[in-house]
Parts: sequence; C-alpha cells; structure tokens
Amino acid sequence: MGDGSAYTPYPEIGTDDSRDPIQEQRVMTHGGGDALGQLDGKIAVITGAGTGIGKGIARAYAREGAKLVIASRNRETLDGTAAELTPKGATVLVVPTDVTKEDQVVALYERTVQEFGRLDISVNNSGVFDGGPIEDLSLETWQHVVDVNLTGVFLCTREAFKIMKAQGGGRIINIGSISAQMPRDNASPYATTKHALVGLTKSTALEGREHGISASILHPGNVVIERRAGSTASADAEPMMTPDDIAIAALAIAAMPHYANMLESIVLPVDQEYLGRG
Ligand SMILES: NC(=O)c1ccc[n+]([C@@H]2O[C@H](COP(=O)([O-])OP(=O)(O)OC[C@H]3O[C@@H](n4cnc5c(N)ncnc54)[C@H](OP(=O)(O)O)[C@@H]3O)[C@@H](O)[C@H]2O)c1
Repeated sequence: MGDGSAYTPYPEIGTDDSRDPIQEQRVMTHGGGDALGQLDGKIAVITGAGTGIGKGIARAYAREGAKLVIASRNRETLDGTAAELTPKGATVLVVPTDVTKEDQVVALYERTVQEFGRLDISVNNSGVFDGGPIEDLSLETWQHVVDVNLTGVFLCTREAFKIMKAQGGGRIINIGSISAQMPRDNASPYATTKHALVGLTKSTALEGREHGISASILHPGNVVIERRAGSTASADAEPMMTPDDIAIAALAIAAMPHYANMLESIVLPVDQEYLGRG
C-alpha cells in the first residue's frame, strides 16, 4: 500500500463489530462525531432490506434519520432488520412484499403513504442472480430473473413516481451491478436485466425532471452477503466489499441536494478484476 500500512482484506460479515464504515467515512469527511442527520425527516422505501446490500442501506439511512419502510418476501429477515434498528431509535415499518406481484407493490406504496404521508426515497434493491449456459437456459429461469430484477423495479418505480409527482419531488435509486457493463459467464438473464435497468433509470430521470424526481443507478461490484457464506463458487473467492461499504455510496446519493443527481455510479473493490477483464 502506498501509505505504508499493511493491506487488510474486507472484514468477514458479522465478525468485525468494531469496524463501522459509515463512521470511518464521517471521520474522513467531517472529523467524526455522531450521525449528521443527513436524512432527517425523510421517508424511504427499501426493497430487499432483510439481507445483504439492502440491509446495509437500511442501517445507513436509519442512522442518518430516515424513517424506513422495508419490503421483501421473507418477513423473518425483515423483522431481523427492524429488531436491529428500532432499539437504536429508528422507525421501521415491515411490509412483506413480492415485487413481482403488482397488487403487492401497489399495496406497499399505498401503505407507505397511509403511514407516513409521503415518500422521499425509493431504493429498488431486490434482485436475484441466476443463469446458466444460454443453450440450456429454461424460460422459467429467464422469466424469473426478468420478473424480479426488471419488472419488480419497474413496478416500484411506477408506484414511487406517482407519489413523488403528486408531492412535487423525490429520489428513486435503483441497484444495478457491474454486470450492467461487463457480464459474467453464464449469467445472461442477470446481465441483461441489469443492462436494462440503466435504460429504465434514464427514462425515469428524463420523465421525472419536470416533477423534481431524480433517478439514479448504483452499480456494486462484489459484495459479501449472507448468501455467499460458505460458498465455494469461484466468484465468491474474489475480492469483496461489505454491504456497509455500498451503503456509503447509497447514502451519498440519497443525501444529494434535491436539485442534484448522481445519475450512474460504479463502486467496486479496489482489487476486483473488472477494468481490463475480457
Ligand atoms: N452481492 C453482490 O456482489 C452484488 C453485486 C452487484 C449487484 N448486486 C445487487 O444488489 C441487490 C441486492 O442483492 P444482495 O447482493 O444484497 O443479495 P441478497 O442478500 O440475496 O438480497 C436480495 C434481496 O432481494 C429480495 N428478493 C428476492 N426476490 C424477491 C421478490 N420476488 N420480491 C421481493 N424481494 C425479493 C430478497 O428478499 P426475500 O428473499 O425476503 O424476498 C433479498 O433480501 C440485487 O439487486 C443484486 O443484483 C449484488
């Protein structure tokens, strides 16, 4: 390392409670101190917040003062996020939702407005990774990935957009992937849907600008998540970041002044093979 310190790999998930990337960021940018309240008074929907990146974003947003509505299919993991955050003073509403089901997504956003009266940020994070060689790919696998990664984000965007248009603004943040630029082998539905999200994000930003609605897509590189624990897949042995590291970027996007937007951003481990690959 250029600064003479030893290289330390990412911390294993859940094993290094002493490390707090959000606090580290704060020390770098503001000299430390308590939460800055960057999202005080904001209402945020976060899908897929029971695990992985969504949970990291929930942690960061709650800490900065946002009230959260968290949604995915599994109530147990969502309750786990709420149980972690509410003792720290956070307001967290759990709304079990399958983002592929139109009626459930409509109900999620209706419930948000019923409970909090508005919606400032929608983080459309739920996603699945699946695939296989194209010649063997079943329509079922293809369709499932499209339904969650693309149609699910469309439905959340549509419902968020309606509320934000009526209230005069808001911010939609989609979680993409570096597979939106460089696919992995045997992952065509994943790469295709993540590419497509760039188009959806730009279309949303274009239609949103006259209503004060911004749309942004954040592309993570490798992030270590619960699902990867114990995995022997070669991708899971690659350099990793933590969900809290990605949450730093998701917080930066959410905390932009309402008139500014980070349209598209890529955040990846310094040593991940991406640039120059292929
Ligand atoms: N980890 C990485 O290296 C990486 C890299 C680039 C991009 N990403 C993206 O980051 C996002 C989060 O993934 P992650 O890595 O944090 O993995 P994860 O822990 O598996 O999170 C995915 C979340 O999506 C939810 N989900 C799946 N199907 C759903 C459905 N039908 N309806 C509602 N929610 C659904 C899951 O919750 P339920 O099971 O409760 O529904 C889960 O909480 C995804 O969009 C992923 O593509 C991840």
